[in-house]
Amino acid sequence: MTDAKPTRYAFFRDLFLGMIGLALGRLFPTLHVAPKDLTGKIAVITGANSGIGFQIALDLTKQGAIVYLACRSQSKAEQAISEIVKQVPGSDSRLRSLVLDTSSLISVKEAIEGLKRDVPLIDILVHNAGIGTGSTTEVGFTQERLPVVYATNFLGSFLMTHLLESHLADDAHVVLTTSTGQYAGRFSSDFALKPVYDKVEMGFHCPPASPDSLTRDSSLYSNTKSMQCCFAKLLRDRWQRIAAAQGKVNKRYVNAFTPGFTFTPIFEKVSKRPFAEDPSFWLLRMTASWIGTHVSQGAATGVWLSTTVDKMVLSRENGGGYWERMSRRVSTADMIGREKLERLWVRWEKDAGVEWR
Ligand SMILES: NC(=O)c1ccc[n+]([C@@H]2O[C@H](COP(=O)([O-])OP(=O)(O)OC[C@H]3O[C@@H](n4cnc5c(N)ncnc54)[C@H](OP(=O)(O)O)[C@@H]3O)[C@@H](O)[C@H]2O)c1
Repeated sequence: MTDAKPTRYAFFRDLFLGMIGLALGRLFPTLHVAPKDLTGKIAVITGANSGIGFQIALDLTKQGAIVYLACRSQSKAEQAISEIVKQVPGSDSRLRSLVLDTSSLISVKEAIEGLKRDVPLIDILVHNAGIGTGSTTEVGFTQERLPVVYATNFLGSFLMTHLLESHLADDAHVVLTTSTGQYAGRFSSDFALKPVYDKVEMGFHCPPASPDSLTRDSSLYSNTKSMQCCFAKLLRDRWQRIAAAQGKVNKRYVNAFTPGFTFTPIFEKVSKRPFAEDPSFWLLRMTASWIGTHVSQGAATGVWLSTTVDKMVLSRENGGGYWERMSRRVSTADMIGREKLERLWVRWEKDAGVEWR
């Protein structure tokens, strides 16, 4: 079953709304997420020591969940746990740290093996870890010879979900923190179906023919964020296919959301260069502090998608979707043809070194 492709009008309307959200989000009405009783539910959140991931961990802890903070640094995870315990007294027995570096396939495998020994089923999985990119940052490559931005922001989540699939509850919620930047993501029709090492591939890692795409990290970011939206759509299809083959109705949710422009430490990290060498990112940092929304607002849609039982969200039409301010929006993934979407999945499998059909 394929979805009806949204009109170009709907796409550009939602792109326009996304831009307005970035500029004026701070002036919008406050989002309120109705608290649920998550007692006994197990949540795993990547990048939970800072910014939006920390806020989601805090909110889910307040609602009674057992929360695994999956972070690349043990000490940062422990610091975040102490901070949550200060705000939610008595929650220490429900908070666990998990050392996991999303940019490393080996680290993801090791962490997930340990996690699977520790927990029977996961109810909430939030793929939030991510890095922003500086306009002057040279593209770096991981020990597995893949672009760092691609591995960190996307491929680690793909592998993690694959490895955890058998440990997801029948009504699990999987949430991806994407970005309004996904609107700039573009893929060619003929990118490679096998890994490309130590090199940026135009039309896959970054949009085709984007200026500086082979040397600058900034042009890779939007494609990783668009991949998250494509993955949500393809994973929903997979789960619906499996449920249908078993004569059941799929009850697993997977969705991506944009936090809009949220003032978090990410803007401290994008570029370490002095103002004269990277003025655009100094400007971005200052703008974030002036007009970025509070982190509780940036995280709200993610918290809502992690906990909602709203049938509207689970419906085929909306599931696997892209959300902004708790509203379904058209994303780049909705505009991509089936064949290209499926090519993406094949390439991710090869890059992650797994077969996942
Ligand atoms: N803030 C915004 O306006 C905005 C807008 C659009 C999208 N986003 C997305 O929101 C997500 C969260 O960002 P944020 O704004 O909350 O920034 P943040 O405060 O910097 O949080 C990012 C988190 O991801 C972690 N992380 C980075 N690389 C990792 C790796 N290789 N393995 C494991 N964890 C890693 C960071 O760990 P360290 O503390 O060790 O660096 C940190 O915990 C990101 O995916 C970002 O792209 C943010």
